[in-house]
Amino acid sequence: MTQGVRGTRDFYPEDMRVRNWLFEKFHSAALSHGFEEYDSPVLETEELYTRKSGEDITQQLYNFKDKGDRRVSLRPEMTPSLARMVMARSGILPLPIKWYSIPQCWRYERTQRGRGREHYQWNVDIWGAEGVEADAELISVLAHFFESVGLSEEDLVIRVSSRKVLEEVLGKLGISGDDFSKTCVIMDKMDKLPPEAIQTQLAEIGLDQGAVSTIQEFLAIDGLEQLSEELGEDSIAAHELRSLFSLVESYGLEEWISFDASVVRGLAYYTGPVFEANDRSGDLRAICGGGRYDRLIGTLGGKDLPATGFGFGDMVIMELLESKGLLPVLSQGVSDVVFGMGPELRGAAMKVANQLRSRGRRVDLVLEDKRMKWVFKHADRIASDRLVMVMPDEWANGIVKIKELSTGEERAVSFEEL
Ligand code: HAM
Repeated sequence: MTQGVRGTRDFYPEDMRVRNWLFEKFHSAALSHGFEEYDSPVLETEELYTRKSGEDITQQLYNFKDKGDRRVSLRPEMTPSLARMVMARSGILPLPIKWYSIPQCWRYERTQRGRGREHYQWNVDIWGAEGVEADAELISVLAHFFESVGLSEEDLVIRVSSRKVLEEVLGKLGISGDDFSKTCVIMDKMDKLPPEAIQTQLAEIGLDQGAVSTIQEFLAIDGLEQLSEELGEDSIAAHELRSLFSLVESYGLEEWISFDASVVRGLAYYTGPVFEANDRSGDLRAICGGGRYDRLIGTLGGKDLPATGFGFGDMVIMELLESKGLLPVLSQGVSDVVFGMGPELRGAAMKVANQLRSRGRRVDLVLEDKRMKWVFKHADRIASDRLVMVMPDEWANGIVKIKELSTGEERAVSFEEL
């Protein structure tokens, strides 16, 4: 009974220290851009996720009937919950809404490197701003985060495209609405499935060979310039994407992004710019992904509100940071180990610990009878700054001995001065 559920992780204290460090960087990047944190329950009604676009995510639900016979599901992603929250206060919340969260998400996926059945996913979203300024701001949040953990544009790239561009191309072939979303979901699998399987799936939703060739030509487009040439000067979609790139340049972040026609994203709800970040070596799965989804609320039965955002998992980034030697060595953060010599001084040691704690120090009190040698070893193991010793002769005069563990320097301090 020592094993947890397949694809899930335990976080021992040493893992938790690194996780907290990572989350702190997530918080800082979002807060530095004026975002506010929100949360919602991990359990939702199943209905929130049942979309008919053939997305993997809807087939990977951890869903079940609860004891009241209601169909429920653990959340596989945060976006529908966020949409539900925004919808519930529609017309009341001041716009734009700039919110972030770090929810645990559950997907019954095939476990592999960088993909588990639960993961924590940093979500950063902007609602109520329809211009590409919002999408550019998200790229800035991402770049700030990457820089804060020591990663640069030489380590990774944010690949950007737009569903609108593809919509223009496929629209000319009469593919729109639901068929368009379904086509995107299939195209997203192109690097995972053999070409025949893709062709079969496209044929199943009614795309003929001509359409498939158009898609292939589109995917071969290399760079924004070629895209503009292909779509023509009056293409609104190409113009919008160029504006986004020029805004990102204003932030000085142009080296972080690159146009990549093959980014379509595997979720049906995206409607505009979409992006994914990958390590430059291409060894790892996507680090994060997101994009604009202006019509999600409409599909849930509410009034549409423009929205854009991204989800950023905790697994691939940890692998990348580890491979680059960028994970910090973190100690427990105890400042004082307090030790009373013998059972008679237990009460005195408690008093001393209490005094130090009330001054805001992090104190580990030795709770049992231990030898001095053990205490030293213990303080060293947990990397405490100081050892505070309560000894019989000194304590009789209201004095404790403090040893600085980095220098070995010892001094006597009165209880009042602590
Ligand atoms: P997604 O691409 O499905 O998008 O997931 C976003 C990120 O979550 C991935 O790039 C990856 O970092 C992480 N992730 C997803 N599944 C797993 C897994 N099984 N194991 C580990 N990490 C995983 C969404 O979920 C969208 N809701 C993101 C979004 C927010 N779009 C707009 N706002």
